Amino acid sequence: MIFGAILAGGIGSRMHISDMPKQFLPLDDKPIIIHTLEKFLLCPRIDAIYIGVHPNWLLHMQDLVDRHVPQYRDKIHIAAGGGDRNETILNIIEAIEKDFGPSDDHIIVTHDSVRPFVTLRILDENIDAALRYGAVDTVISATDTIVVSEDGKVISSIPERRKIYQGQTPQSFRMSLLKKLYLELSEDEKAVLTDACKICVVRSTPVRLVEGEVANLKITTVSDYKIAQAMVGGIQID
Ligand code: CTP
Repeated sequence: MIFGAILAGGIGSRMHISDMPKQFLPLDDKPIIIHTLEKFLLCPRIDAIYIGVHPNWLLHMQDLVDRHVPQYRDKIHIAAGGGDRNETILNIIEAIEKDFGPSDDHIIVTHDSVRPFVTLRILDENIDAALRYGAVDTVISATDTIVVSEDGKVISSIPERRKIYQGQTPQSFRMSLLKKLYLELSEDEKAVLTDACKICVVRSTPVRLVEGEVANLKITTVSDYKIAQAMVGGIQID
């Protein structure tokens, strides 16, 4: 089976405009997370969608589902998020296995709740590549030159730009593979390997690339929120 995993366990501490986690802020006529959820609902290959939500916001999330997409209530499951992003993914995997049983055939398409502009094409290509290769990241080519500095004072190196990509989400996996790799990590490794694809990379498991889109932006700061509002409002920024 194919499962969507929408990650909404964060509190949006870099946003600084509301006590409400950023995924619940309005964008046009509905909360950001409902835009994201609707993209997953539009993908017919996804059998069930799990949303990992901060424990304080579980009831609020259920209320949003009941209000905005009640016709899909049976397809949407809400799980408690964890202390970091990977723990939220693990909680979702455990909820899926409890509901549907473990299987090496399960695919999980993990996605930031605060990337509401993901497209059907990106979701489809993630599913195809996860079925074929087992681990997938969505990326775009870097447009800025990336500068590395070990001490934050002087440049240590400037990698060749054609080899540099920016990671987005979805990140998709054969579920049993990701769970196995995660459970093998030491506590120290878990603390630093905050990106699910990085867990695969450090364990020499190849991660296939799928092309993302500049528009698939992550709403992290107030500036990102303003850009997202302009995008849904149809304001031309050219
Ligand atoms: N996330 C999660 N569980 C956590 C932490 C983060 O599911 N324990 C999710 C966030 O809800 C978000 C995505 O991971 O959809 C990307 O994380 P980020 O943008 O860093 O979100 P926050 O952790 O909420 O933001 P901040 O780092 O500013 O506090």
